[in-house]
Amino acid sequence: MLIAQITDLHVKTPGKLAYGRVDTARFMADCIESLLALKAVPDVVLVTGDLVDFGEPEEYRHLRSFLDRLPMPLYLVPGNHDGRDTLRAAFPDHPYLPETGFLHWVVDEYPVRLIGLDTLVPGESRGELCADRLTWLETTLAASDRPTLIAMHHPPFQTGIGHMDRIGLTGAEAFAALLDRFPQVCRVICGHLHRPITMLMGRAIVSTCSSPAHQVALDLRPDADSRFMMEPPGFELHRWTGTGFLSHRAAIGTFPGPFPFFDPSGALID
Ligand SMILES: [Fe+2]
Ligand SMILES: [Fe+2]
Repeated sequence: MLIAQITDLHVKTPGKLAYGRVDTARFMADCIESLLALKAVPDVVLVTGDLVDFGEPEEYRHLRSFLDRLPMPLYLVPGNHDGRDTLRAAFPDHPYLPETGFLHWVVDEYPVRLIGLDTLVPGESRGELCADRLTWLETTLAASDRPTLIAMHHPPFQTGIGHMDRIGLTGAEAFAALLDRFPQVCRVICGHLHRPITMLMGRAIVSTCSSPAHQVALDLRPDADSRFMMEPPGFELHRWTGTGFLSHRAAIGTFPGPFPFFDPSGALID
């Protein structure tokens, strides 16, 4: 099973730029082109939040004009820039999304169990796993010991990038305790950080992912200011090997190549 993860798309209404300078729609179009150009076609695409910038219906309509080009199933979790109800309303053809309440979901039809966790707190940038959400997760994990991947927007660790940690995940310690209790969770994939970061928690590799648009500046000071960089955009590919996930980071864009290492006779080109 091959999972493509894209995150933090921040698509806006047509013609609008994020933060006055980032054409997230153009970056989204490039992202779709890169996904469609993959030689090994992903079985599913998982989107780990901040699908749009302000959670508005018109933004979701614009987002769909890009996502609807993908031929494989899509699974969505909300981020702090999303609206729970506007997201739900924009994707009525996504039956795994619950009709009310948190946008948590479980998909059991693949070799790995997929769980989507809603960490959204309306009107705030931080995320939260409150008692209700932790209870839902505990009950869901207790129901099956199949290998499991959890997708959520806010990562359950401190990154060292001060301004992002100040809008991190409330309830991260309780989530870590669940990872210790339920070792079938072998992978947790997150967004929010707009850059790739990896940490081991319990028996799970927990990671964040590049954005197809702007990246958070790599400033590891506790008092780091809120800044973004136009570093190379990307996404991730997570392949289930039967025993764990093998993850590849993919660059978005067009680049020279691929070039052969060997000539037609099989000799190394020197
Ligand atoms: Fe974001
Ligand atoms: Fe976010």
